[in-house]
Amino acid sequence: MTLFAVFGNPVAHSWSPQIHQSFARQEGRQLVYERQLIPIDSFAEVAQEFFQSGGVGANITVPFKTEAFQLADEVSSRARAAQAVNTLFMRDGILFADNTDGIGLVRAIQELLNFSLHDKRILLLGAGGAAQGVILPLLQQRPAQLIIANRTEAKAEKLAVEFGTAWVPVNEIRPHYDIIINATSGSLQGQMLPIAPAVLAKAELVYDMMYAKGPTLFLKQAQQAGCVNTADGLSMLVAQAAESYYLWHGFQPDISVVVSAIRQQMGQQ
Ligand code: ATR
Repeated sequence: MTLFAVFGNPVAHSWSPQIHQSFARQEGRQLVYERQLIPIDSFAEVAQEFFQSGGVGANITVPFKTEAFQLADEVSSRARAAQAVNTLFMRDGILFADNTDGIGLVRAIQELLNFSLHDKRILLLGAGGAAQGVILPLLQQRPAQLIIANRTEAKAEKLAVEFGTAWVPVNEIRPHYDIIINATSGSLQGQMLPIAPAVLAKAELVYDMMYAKGPTLFLKQAQQAGCVNTADGLSMLVAQAAESYYLWHGFQPDISVVVSAIRQQMGQQ
């Protein structure tokens, strides 16, 4: 049987094994998919050993996405734009790397939630690794605008320059955006972003790339402001896994049934 794994630290919380086994069942394929807790300073060593001993593919999670980018022999354009890698695969002795986070976000919004990104005014909150990972695939949908806002303004400006788009200071965000995407970790830290309720109310969709058992703090903020459509990052998680699965096996699994199954298990439904 072919061997796959998710590498991270921590990794015990990862849904990846379950998601990939659900996809494999859809296809009628048998595979081994393990969680590997890697010591912080041993990523390259453990990853090389995994592929040398027959591993076929690995998902990479925090904090190794940049190291995985550096380890690969060949890197896709979207991974290069992200400067980070969430999918590794060995083929003919060459270690390939890709980043499916951004396309996962795009598919979650367009295919699962049915909101087009084309011609829309998009506000992206955050300028860390999570934000950088999704900008190129978002721009490829040809939105009317993609504006970045971040607590540390210099980082928003840097990313905007790098990707040829624009940025706005957080305290100058006006009610103007159709789709607002939160790529900050503010929800995790229990802190609200200082965004006016009118901004959130005007958006047709507020999406938080984070997910939790219930609505994230940011989504609660949007709902309280009167935003009708809010969604958390579980759909993105499953969609990015589906793109990894496709790279490894050439099969596009059904994403929505797996999202529903996980929500049920999380006690969200
Ligand atoms: P990740 O890889 O998840 O993006 P990161 O690179 O540490 O992690 O970036 C975290 C992002 O969340 C940054 O945009 C950060 O803003 P700063 O650049 O100003 O640090 C943002 N963030 C984290 N906590 C926040 C908070 N309480 N309020 C607003 N933004 C926050």
